[in-house]
Amino acid sequence: MSLYRAQLFPRIMNRLMDTEQHRQVRARVCAPLSGEVVEIGFGTGLNLPHMPRSVTSIRAVEPLGVGVALSGGRRRASPVPVEVSGLDGQSLPFGEGTADAVLSTWTLCSIPDPVAAVREARRVLRPGAALHFVEHGRAPDERVRRWQDRLDPVQQRLACGCHLNRDIPSIVEAGGMHIEHLSTYFLQGEPKLVGATYEGRAVAEPG
Ligand SMILES: C[S@@+](CC[C@H](N)C(=O)[O-])C[C@H]1O[C@@H](n2cnc3c(N)ncnc32)[C@H](O)[C@@H]1O
Repeated sequence: MSLYRAQLFPRIMNRLMDTEQHRQVRARVCAPLSGEVVEIGFGTGLNLPHMPRSVTSIRAVEPLGVGVALSGGRRRASPVPVEVSGLDGQSLPFGEGTADAVLSTWTLCSIPDPVAAVREARRVLRPGAALHFVEHGRAPDERVRRWQDRLDPVQQRLACGCHLNRDIPSIVEAGGMHIEHLSTYFLQGEPKLVGATYEGRAVAEPG
């Protein structure tokens, strides 16, 4: 793994993903969580300050050790116990039906096989429990999409595998989940090329 990916990228993310606007979105996405939560792409723990009291534990899945190390202060300040317990959202080391919620914030853009990650989320969720997500992805506007497609290879290098142009709702559905709620919008002040924001909740498709 390059020095940039292992050391610098988590520090950059820790800053860039902690704006007031990101915090508002995080608070909204975390508000309905309760019980035992699995967070894929835990990053530097930026969601921890937004966990409601109803959350009893978090199993954090994150491949970048420095990201987890940078979360130390937030973990210590959090009343919710966090167990760092996995490296890859595509293959979760948890039993079937053991989570009350799975959380993914700006992570499906970066996982090499995001459909596999959604399938894994579906597998570990208890019946009726939901995947709560906020992601950026393919813009609804055709002209913006063309630029996203052109710039995607550059973004992948700069942002360590992050794609600009993933079709988030299709990925969630291809992973066997039914989207119960979705809002699609652009974050204020962020270049449209970063993509639309997809904020929502999905439950397992029956069968
Ligand atoms: C843009 S960052 C977002 C971090 C965090 N979710 C947040 O909201 O601040 C994307 C995260 O996905 C993580 N990631 C990349 N590949 C992954 C994988 N296979 N499984 C789980 N997480 C992964 C990265 O290490 C990074 O922490």
